[in-house]
Amino acid sequence: MAFLEWEENLSVGIKSIDKQHKKLIQIINDFYDNLQKESPEEILLNIIERLKEYTVYHFETEENLFEKYNFDGYDEHKKEHGEFVAKIEDFHERFKNGKMLMALEVVNFIKLWIFKHIMGTDKKYTAFLIEKGVE
Ligand SMILES: [Fe+2]
Ligand SMILES: [Fe+2]
Repeated sequence: MAFLEWEENLSVGIKSIDKQHKKLIQIINDFYDNLQKESPEEILLNIIERLKEYTVYHFETEENLFEKYNFDGYDEHKKEHGEFVAKIEDFHERFKNGKMLMALEVVNFIKLWIFKHIMGTDKKYTAFLIEKGVE
């Protein structure tokens, strides 16, 4: 069983966004698996970089939609995204400096954050964006 399993209840009802969330979950699982396997540091570092890049890309996708359609919850949502990116950047920095002792703790935090963010914050835009025709 995967570290974080995609389930239908995680769907925000918008195919393109679900696809990105799945990809994000896949990277998190990949990191976890490699941590468990005690893979070389450069592999782990590489996955963290992918996670960082894809997270930023995904958040931009959402924020661009909020902007395009004038979504009310834009500021609040963007703030949450920013806080998470800062966490990932901090993790990336610490990891680069050889401080990977907390990696398991961090990956658990990431998993929980993503799950809660999709279930709570992301789902707040579902009805709004679907009504605007976003697929
Ligand atoms: Fe979001
Ligand atoms: Fe999202």
